[in-house]
Amino acid sequence: MKRIMVINGPNLNMLGTREKGVYGEKTLEEINALIEEETKALAVELDFVQSNHEGDIVDEIQAAHYDGLNGIVLNAGAYTHYSYAIRDAIAAIDVPVVEVHLSDIHAREAFRNVSVIEEVCVAQIAGLGYKGYVKAVELLEKEKEGEGND
Ligand code: DQA
Repeated sequence: MKRIMVINGPNLNMLGTREKGVYGEKTLEEINALIEEETKALAVELDFVQSNHEGDIVDEIQAAHYDGLNGIVLNAGAYTHYSYAIRDAIAAIDVPVVEVHLSDIHAREAFRNVSVIEEVCVAQIAGLGYKGYVKAVELLEKEKEGEGND
């Protein structure tokens, strides 16, 4: 059984209310329930966390390492575009991280086209809505252990 943590960053607690035209109508709770539902045939145990704070996200990434988790699905929200602290945390651990975005960050404002975490993640999935999280879990279930992030 692989243990995977799904981390959502800033403002993703406001899904369902926030910019529905971009992010859809589903709340984060509904999305997390769909991820559970659509991955229940896989040998994975999921844990869900959300934080609006950069340091908390760094702490969660480090905790995944110290707890020996098998993977992280990370939607770092706007931190994706400029947080070297989150990038360094991912690079510091051997737990594979898949970067996920609900929207297609490559088809939006220029500042969203850049991900400073992309290079240290094993994959980036963007623009598939909540299905992106499901695909990320599927990918991590197949991932070999201890591949590293650098
Ligand atoms: C996002 C895209 C980011 O640019 C934005 O800041 C978010 C959400 C997405 O899921 O599409 O908060 O990560």
